[in-house]
Amino acid sequence: MIELLVQHSEPEITGIDISDNTIDYAKRRFAAYTKVELLNARVEEMNFPSVSFNLVIGINILQHITDEEEFLGAIENIVRVTKGDGHILVMDFSPVKVDKRQPSPYVVYRSRQEYIDTFDNGGCKFISEFGLPRIGVRLYRGVSKVGGFIRLFGFQSKQHREVSLTNEANSPWSSRVGDFVRNLVLKFARPLDYFLAPFPSRYTDMRILIFQVSSR
Ligand SMILES: C[S@@+](CC[C@H](N)C(=O)[O-])C[C@H]1O[C@@H](n2cnc3c(N)ncnc32)[C@H](O)[C@@H]1O
Repeated sequence: MIELLVQHSEPEITGIDISDNTIDYAKRRFAAYTKVELLNARVEEMNFPSVSFNLVIGINILQHITDEEEFLGAIENIVRVTKGDGHILVMDFSPVKVDKRQPSPYVVYRSRQEYIDTFDNGGCKFISEFGLPRIGVRLYRGVSKVGGFIRLFGFQSKQHREVSLTNEANSPWSSRVGDFVRNLVLKFARPLDYFLAPFPSRYTDMRILIFQVSSR
């Protein structure tokens, strides 16, 4: 969902998403809010009048636009609909150095500098950033690897190992333990993520980048 905000006497919010399901969910979620408008649209094709919104927010949206021309078109369109001196906030995987550009068919990792250069070329000034080191996610991946390693190399009978490898996804016991460990790790690591957010480093893969559109 990409959110576009206008401020008059009361805030007005327009949200768009390419998916009908997401829009239906958001409509139910925000049913009580009369100043929220939700529409099915692609960010690269949204046809709001130019210079309409004070703030445009895109959380984990642009990274899903895998085609480079569409990505550039999306940024051009975001800048077009934002008012002069208005702000744009994007959160995406945007590491300093990209190791694997397309880890899945649905995601492209572009570097922090690519985002900054593209918005800069579109007439925006980069003003601030926050990092999400996602320490909990990294820790949990480490724990899962160790768990998988232990299961693979001997701490179970051969028969149990074969069953658990073929049925792993269906095992209610292992998935419950996995969920519990994941939730625990994420919960305890979250304060560390908040603490480190103002200090993004080259190890931070996901970040929030904030731009200001030049005066018009
Ligand atoms: C990872 S989800 C993020 C959702 C939400 N922003 C959040 O943080 O929970 C990505 C969303 O982007 C939407 N999306 C992908 N490509 C899009 C596009 N070109 N225009 C608008 N929405 C798009 C998908 O339908 C999906 O709802």
